[in-house]
Amino acid sequence: MILKPSQREQIIPLPVVLISTLSPEGIRNAAPWSNFTPILRPLEEVLLASWLKRDTLENIRQTGEFVVNVPPVGMEDAVMICAQNYPSDVDEFQEAGLKARHSAKVVPPGIEGCLAWAECVLVEEIAREKFVLVVGKVVHLEVDDRFFNADGSMDFQRAKPLGAMLGHDGMSFTYPAYSGRYAEYREMFQSSATPGRGK
Ligand SMILES: Cc1cc2nc3c(=O)[nH]c(=O)nc-3n(C[C@H](O)[C@H](O)[C@H](O)COP(=O)(O)O)c2cc1C
Repeated sequence: MILKPSQREQIIPLPVVLISTLSPEGIRNAAPWSNFTPILRPLEEVLLASWLKRDTLENIRQTGEFVVNVPPVGMEDAVMICAQNYPSDVDEFQEAGLKARHSAKVVPPGIEGCLAWAECVLVEEIAREKFVLVVGKVVHLEVDDRFFNADGSMDFQRAKPLGAMLGHDGMSFTYPAYSGRYAEYREMFQSSATPGRGK
């Protein structure tokens, strides 16, 4: 089957994070985001792709700060409430029944019940005609110890971080499952690999 260009987002599982921000007036905002990625390891910077008409984008521009919250399965309804297009003066934490969590290094609060909180400051905006790429620097990263191993890695089967597979009329929420294969990073650096190629 050949897919139309408009269906290209249907072929890969996407993460679902909640971006929390504050307006300059101090109104709390939360919005789900799937076009989100860390920029290479070790997660020093992150990237969000944003349509232009987003209170989240406006708040980040105005205050320079945001929190990337990683919600678990069970928060789908709150995620979908936050996805609604509320006016910028509506407190979306209140609308979605979200409890604020004090942030250590930035002013916008995180969201209680999430698995991890990456506190970020705006580094750069890459503006395109219809969208903006927002680069943020992670200035503080904290996780819920109940879902993380002693080495700081997520026990993802227990934590069930929320993801989504997009479809034609909607999206199915998902979470990762172990395929049965574990690979150590040193496998990437075996001598048979082409010398000099960065990973
Ligand atoms: C699962 C999910 C992922 C989303 N991902 C994005 C995204 O990556 N970029 C974007 O601009 N909007 C995305 N949206 C839409 C925004 O969350 C939605 O428009 C929201 O109302 C924006 O809120 P705001 O205006 O308060 O920022 C997503 C919505 C859902 C449900």
